[in-house]
Amino acid sequence: MNRKIALIGANGMLGTEFMYKFQAGNSKVAPLTDRDIDITDYEYTLEVLTQIKPEIIINCAAYTAVDQAEQDMEMAFKVNALGVKHLAQSADKLHSHLVHYSTDYVFPGTNADGYLEDAETAPVNQYGASKLQGEQEIAKTLAPHQYIIMRTAWLYGNLGKNFVRTMLRLADTMDVVKVVNDQIGSPTHTKDLVQWTTDLLKLSAYGTFHSVNSGSGSWYDFAKEIFRLAGKKVETVAVTSREFPTPAKRPAFSILINKKLEKALNYPIKKWPEALSEYLHSIKL
Ligand SMILES: NC(=O)c1ccc[n+]([C@@H]2O[C@H](COP(=O)([O-])OP(=O)(O)OC[C@H]3O[C@@H](n4cnc5c(N)ncnc54)[C@H](OP(=O)(O)O)[C@@H]3O)[C@@H](O)[C@H]2O)c1
Repeated sequence: MNRKIALIGANGMLGTEFMYKFQAGNSKVAPLTDRDIDITDYEYTLEVLTQIKPEIIINCAAYTAVDQAEQDMEMAFKVNALGVKHLAQSADKLHSHLVHYSTDYVFPGTNADGYLEDAETAPVNQYGASKLQGEQEIAKTLAPHQYIIMRTAWLYGNLGKNFVRTMLRLADTMDVVKVVNDQIGSPTHTKDLVQWTTDLLKLSAYGTFHSVNSGSGSWYDFAKEIFRLAGKKVETVAVTSREFPTPAKRPAFSILINKKLEKALNYPIKKWPEALSEYLHSIKL
């Protein structure tokens, strides 16, 4: 990638994965953490980006505390909707392309067959509602050939807390682990998401894409596969969401159908157990 990139949210989980990728290549990247930019402040955002003059703005910044967003709604919308609007306005002013990430939580999760990009949205929690508004701000401000929105789900990567690391830690400290079996989704490796994004940019393929590792399973299936691949001997007990109440409601079927992404990239999207296996090798289990 030899186009000039502004990477926002560079020290988050996905942002860090981009940094690994860009550091390994010859990219012209300006990494921006929350110390360098505050996307909720339009003037400041535009000023920072004007100095960089990026051809591409990749936005990995977001308010991602799903449960906290139920209480802290104002902040969730400020970052995920208003902040994203500011990025879209800046991209428009600077004639940059905008790459942005959204979520399976824009859907109600009642369709067990999964969701295509144009399926009807109806978030069941505040985080999902704030992310949906962010998508809408982009679509109102930019033409479809000026942006990529990648809806993704159940991310794990090298930085910070994630489900895989949590399960590995629990396996080392507990004999029995209880995991919910009535929420179905597609665990996704940030490394693959970064690869799909850079490939779409190379192809100049724009618009909204569902982008998760292929196949689906419950959190229980995900945990079982983590323990199997990591050789952990731990009893895994399937429980219902009712037994694990959380402040934010979660959709039951968070399945994003990848067909459009696969067609655009012209290669098969890796299945989630294979991606998980690669991840576990990469963290040198
Ligand atoms: N993680 C998942 O399972 C998942 C699933 C579906 C979709 N997504 C989407 O994927 C994208 C990346 O998620 P992630 O898990 O990598 O997120 P993350 O690790 O929580 O990182 C988000 C980053 O955004 C920064 N940030 C927050 N508010 C900001 C602001 N006002 N201005 C500038 N930076 C700000 C945060 O900085 P500080 O933390 O230092 O404040 C943090 O570095 C997000 O759009 C998320 O909604 C994630």
